[in-house]
Amino acid sequence: MERYNRIADDVSLGQGTKVHGFANLYGCSLGDETSVGAFVEIQSGVVIGRRCKVSSHSFICEGVTVEDEVFIGHHVCFTNDLYPRSTTGDGRLQEAGDWRLVETVVKRRASIGSGAVILAGITIGEEALVGAGAVVTKDVAPGAVVVGNPARVIRTVDDGAGV
Ligand SMILES: CC(C)(COP(=O)(O)OP(=O)(O)OC[C@H]1O[C@@H](n2cnc3c(N)ncnc32)[C@H](O)[C@@H]1OP(=O)(O)O)[C@@H](O)C(=O)NCCC(=O)NCCS
Repeated sequence: MERYNRIADDVSLGQGTKVHGFANLYGCSLGDETSVGAFVEIQSGVVIGRRCKVSSHSFICEGVTVEDEVFIGHHVCFTNDLYPRSTTGDGRLQEAGDWRLVETVVKRRASIGSGAVILAGITIGEEALVGAGAVVTKDVAPGAVVVGNPARVIRTVDDGAGV
């Protein structure tokens, strides 16, 4: 493991899993042979499967589950609160319990292009491909290729136009 990481004691790392410099991991679990790039943050409760690649600068928040062999590009941003606020109605800083955590799942062998934003509560289907810079606001069907803001289907991965 490289020197400049903050990997909390409660992180479970699979065999052969690599975490590159300046990553910040706490309370999460990563399967075997998964690779995590520099400056990635992975929060509590996140489960990442085997042989996944998480590219540098991505943010994976609490409530996200990533199945095996998933590719996550650079600067991918997950979210878990659809209506975020800093404070409660009476001006107190929000804490756990003041907001509703909404879960997201990325299914096996899906890929997410660089700079994509995944809104809370989404399921990205098996082998689906999310284009660079997409803002994903609805579930993505298995094998669908989606691009844009809001992300729309442009084709499927098995239509012969390349994966
Ligand atoms: C989504 C993607 C797979 C589509 O590839 P493709 O099927 O070969 O698509 P094409 O290049 O033929 O483009 C088809 C159309 O979608 C548009 N398009 C392609 N990718 C787009 C994207 N990310 N965002 C918005 N529009 C996109 C093209 O402009 C084109 O539009 P047009 O028909 O109006 O000309 C690819 O463009 C992409 O974004 N890959 C992810 C790259 C990445 O982030 N890699 C991370 C590691 S480096």
